[in-house]
Amino acid sequence: MTENTYNPGKGEGSPVGVAILGLGTVGAQVLRLLQERAEDFERRVGGPIEVRGVAVSDKSKPRPGVDPELLTDDAFTLIERDDVDIVVEVIGGIDYPRRVVLEALHAGKSVVTANKALVAAHGAELSDAADATGADLFFEAAVAAAIPVVGPLRRSLAGDQVNKVVGIVNGTTNFILDAMDSTGADYDEMLAEATRLGYAEADPTADVEGHDAASKAAILSSLAFHTRVTSDDVHCEGISSITAEDIAAANAADCTIKLLATCERVIQEDGSEGISTSVYPAFIPRRHPLATVRESFNAVFVEADAAGRLMFYGNGAGGNPTASAVLGDLVAAGRNKVFGGRAPGDSTYADLPILPFGEVETRFHIDLEVDDRIGVLADISRRLADNGISLRTVRQEGGTRAHEGSAARLVIITHSAKEEQLQSCVEMLASLDSVVKVNSVIRIEGMDV
Ligand code: NDP
Ligand code: HSE
Repeated sequence: MTENTYNPGKGEGSPVGVAILGLGTVGAQVLRLLQERAEDFERRVGGPIEVRGVAVSDKSKPRPGVDPELLTDDAFTLIERDDVDIVVEVIGGIDYPRRVVLEALHAGKSVVTANKALVAAHGAELSDAADATGADLFFEAAVAAAIPVVGPLRRSLAGDQVNKVVGIVNGTTNFILDAMDSTGADYDEMLAEATRLGYAEADPTADVEGHDAASKAAILSSLAFHTRVTSDDVHCEGISSITAEDIAAANAADCTIKLLATCERVIQEDGSEGISTSVYPAFIPRRHPLATVRESFNAVFVEADAAGRLMFYGNGAGGNPTASAVLGDLVAAGRNKVFGGRAPGDSTYADLPILPFGEVETRFHIDLEVDDRIGVLADISRRLADNGISLRTVRQEGGTRAHEGSAARLVIITHSAKEEQLQSCVEMLASLDSVVKVNSVIRIEGMDV
């Protein structure tokens, strides 16, 4: 922080003016809780929180319990007001909120946002703008909603070395996968239900294609490894291609399927460090703690040198859980406005290289239909071994997917190997005359737990 950004605080008892941008699933709960618990907020902040206005896109929508005088469809004019100290951005999207948030930060107003897409894409620019004026930039709600994970990585674990963060960080996809697994529910119906319940993004493609989880993974990696990671640096696969057959295959292997975000510190062959950040659906053994994360809940595991293994679990989506995290940040930002000082900013000094996904080691669960004749299993096993892929288990059955009369099902679980090596082996298998069809290739995680 430079000298001209020193913030002595407004003094105890001074009002803190807040502009709320967005009054949808999250914004409506933020406003409600602020109004219902005004006295508590005043005590916690050191001065009253006063909502100066609420920006929405359509002022004519019915909004029971909301003072129409507060509403505006002009966010820029609202945040420019001299009596606005803190801007809460819960609109979503990237381009428009980026402009509003930057303008607020340039004017020295602290910002609290739940917008992971914005932070993951433009974190450096926002952080620089905050540093330039000494404003606070908080985004606890951007990752796993109510679960405190940004704060712990940024503050509590700042004295440790984090080696891995892995978790379920998207409520919508967990809701869908859990329902498909436990009740055989239909993918499209559960997506519609997740949208109705307020879990899904305005465009749920961001959820099901993994982009929402990728934004969160980028934020987690940046915090964990003191390195700038953007959403473009994250290898991302979603769940839209997961079928009822894949779920059945997972069940047959005593596994369930989860969309995992994995952030890893990797020691390369030459001893240097790099990081890898990815999002993909994976088989998880039912005995693994992540397999027990149901409905729209999220869970994040952190492995650190001194702390060992930590697990964070809770509500990862929805209006109230997200409002809880937004309001926690608002109290912190408000206190700084009243008493002075500033929250810790970004730390990206380590600047570790981001490794290509092909370099990362994974395990595969490969489900094939093969010719049902003697020698095929041995031939496939030998070809994989010749390509440096060691097999953990191979199971052959005249399975339910078998083609009439002539095909059997072969289920292979590999030991870990480099992703690019595994992918090329799968291509090789698909090209064999004895392989009728590659039913699915899904990574498998958590075998060691
Ligand atoms: P909604 O779509 O429910 O609400 C968006 C709000 O923004 C609406 O009130 C809308 O106005 C308003 N808005 C849209 N465009 C503008 C504009 N140009 N100017 C002013 N207001 C505008 O979104 P959510 O509340 O679900 O999500 C908000 C943010 O929180 C997103 O970044 C999301 O990723 C994040 N988040 C959401 C979670 C969730 O579970 N829902 C969990 C964690 C984070 P109008 O009401 O007139 O349509
Ligand atoms: N759409 C997100 C989810 C909201 O389903 O997890 C919480 O970030």
